[in-house]
Amino acid sequence: MRILVLSRSASLYSTARVVLAARARGHEVTVVDPLDFRLVVSRGRPSMYLGGQPIANSDLVIPRIGASITNYGLAVVRQFDLMGIPVLNSAVSIARSRDKLRAMQLLTKKNIDVPTTVCARNPDSIDLALSLVGGVPAIVKLQQGAQGIGTMIAETPQAVTSLLETLWAMGQDIILQEYIKEAKGRDVRAIVVGRRVVAAMIRQAKKGEFRSNLHRGGLALAITLDKTYAKAAIAATRVMGLEIAGVDMLQSRKGPKILEINSSPGLEGIERASGVDVAGAIIAYGERFVLRRRTRKAKRDMMIEDERRSTRLRPVESQVARPA
Ligand SMILES: Nc1ncnc2c1ncn2[C@@H]1O[C@H](COP(=O)(O)OP(=O)(O)O)[C@@H](O)[C@H]1O
Ligand SMILES: [Mg+2]
Repeated sequence: MRILVLSRSASLYSTARVVLAARARGHEVTVVDPLDFRLVVSRGRPSMYLGGQPIANSDLVIPRIGASITNYGLAVVRQFDLMGIPVLNSAVSIARSRDKLRAMQLLTKKNIDVPTTVCARNPDSIDLALSLVGGVPAIVKLQQGAQGIGTMIAETPQAVTSLLETLWAMGQDIILQEYIKEAKGRDVRAIVVGRRVVAAMIRQAKKGEFRSNLHRGGLALAITLDKTYAKAAIAATRVMGLEIAGVDMLQSRKGPKILEINSSPGLEGIERASGVDVAGAIIAYGERFVLRRRTRKAKRDMMIEDERRSTRLRPVESQVARPA
């Protein structure tokens, strides 16, 4: 297959691993910075240019869209979607998962557990919002944060008020969230590929920190994932419509609570901790994904053709009354 990886740089660990895994399985791979594409939106003929040339055909696109280029990156992924090229993950699923409030709303609709989350925009409602999430300490989060940046803890009602007012004044979209104390600075990261969890780890926040992100100095430990956690991670991935995801979960007294679903999960920490070839699993799934799409399309085309042959439908015109 010809695989196109969308990434800001070929030297990033995860990008480099996906490229190596694809080559190891005999594929041709190119890495392109999504910002280098020029999209052409034109009736019936969506296309894309790279360095003055129309892009060559690809069999599969693997987007690794970082938070800093979400909008343009998503437009590029959507364009590939429109051109009928299989993408792992689709633009709409990336957009759903990147907005933490939107993701929580969709998860709870499907009865998946999350920390109680409140969104408000009126300073008069802060007391009520705080009581709804169980008081302090409470978590204040940017709706589109990543790598731990944008996730804060407020120890007093005054801290909650000043954080919310400051962030609102800066035009940020924020959520207030129940602090899951019993998680003790630990969370579970599960990597879902297709309908399977291929690797999992526990991340423990460093001393004095509640965020367990590896970018914030968290420590990764290998685990075998409990069934309930694996099921929750797979269900959450499906609700988002993602093919590949890194699902963050807290271990609460009542079982897994989903925190967020990452559409371009980092591979370095998880591959090191688990010893699993996650990049290889992604490529192997990509092969099945492309094959499945082709078989489905061929079947559909055949059915339509059969239907056309077996039914003799009258043309519309002869049934339609014409204006006198
Ligand atoms: N409600 C919460 N209760 C306890 N810890 C939390 C809560 N929300 C986030 N955390 C901690 O902060 C980390 C970052 O939060 P997360 O929602 O995953 O945002 P990010 O996109 O920045 O990774 C989590 O991995 C977890 O360790
Ligand atoms: Mg996270």
